[in-house]
Amino acid sequence: MEKIQAAIAKARATRDAQTGLPTPLATPAAVLPEELAATAAQDIAAAWAALPGFTPDPLRLREHHVVTLSVGSESAPFDGMRTRALQQMRTNGWRKLAITSPGPGCGKSTVALNLAFSLARQPDLRVILLELDLRRPTLARTLGLHPDASLAEVLKGNEALEAAMRRYGNNLAIAVNLAPARAAAELLSGPVAPSILDAMMARYAPDVVIFDMPPMLATDDTIAFLPRVDCALLVAAAETTAVKEIDNCEREIAAQTNVMGIVLNKCRYMEADYGYGY
Ligand SMILES: Nc1ncnc2c1ncn2[C@@H]1O[C@H](COP(=O)(O)OP(=O)(O)OP(=O)(O)O)[C@@H](O)[C@H]1O
Ligand SMILES: [Mg+2]
Repeated sequence: MEKIQAAIAKARATRDAQTGLPTPLATPAAVLPEELAATAAQDIAAAWAALPGFTPDPLRLREHHVVTLSVGSESAPFDGMRTRALQQMRTNGWRKLAITSPGPGCGKSTVALNLAFSLARQPDLRVILLELDLRRPTLARTLGLHPDASLAEVLKGNEALEAAMRRYGNNLAIAVNLAPARAAAELLSGPVAPSILDAMMARYAPDVVIFDMPPMLATDDTIAFLPRVDCALLVAAAETTAVKEIDNCEREIAAQTNVMGIVLNKCRYMEADYGYGY
């Protein structure tokens, strides 16, 4: 392309010299839409390839009830959840999914990880999981992950996103926190978060971004962030979450974003041998 442009410019200059007319400023050659798309696709692939990779220990994940690394009877409930979530997201053009719960310990991080690994088994998808429970981070420990920086530092504007992010396989990137952060609500609702998210969406072009959020009843961190997502999943613990809490949280979520559904977790009596259900 450059050679052709140079040759055209040279021919034009020679012609103008012969006619005595001034040489006009070189105009860029028309760029075809397919060429632009190909360049963008190359840039996105290069950005993914540049992320440091990691391989989690399957046994460690299993101990933490993360069971979707490979397909099997245990992964089935999450694979079903993945398929339904994807359907809804594609139908509505949603890409950013928050996972939250009324109280702590309902299984948000477990659901987020299982959903992320289940989605990543579809090679045509690009998936990003961001740990936004900044006060009580757990993902680094669950995954045995040691990035250079915490996502909280990225949200403060102190570090590049790439320092907190690691790639699993070709199509799943996870950014975690190495320690609890202060001023979590301010970080989540502050001015840096939206620009980082926008840059991330452009650079990595993910099909799905999962946000592992804090519980809603303990702090206003989640409420502060919900306007930035397209939809949210509410995880309730079968034996500990009160129906009234689920109802209140669902209403609060609905005031800020789309409610994708409610996941009833930690069900002890189910036909399937794993305790998840809608
Ligand atoms: N379906 C399940 N069956 C058994 N144990 C589970 C299940 N789901 C989650 N757990 C366990 O419950 C604990 C809490 O789960 P998890 O950390 O995913 O919850 P959380 O909602 O993210 O908690 P937090 O509010 O602290 O962020 C973990 O030890 C996890 O392994
Ligand atoms: Mg959690």
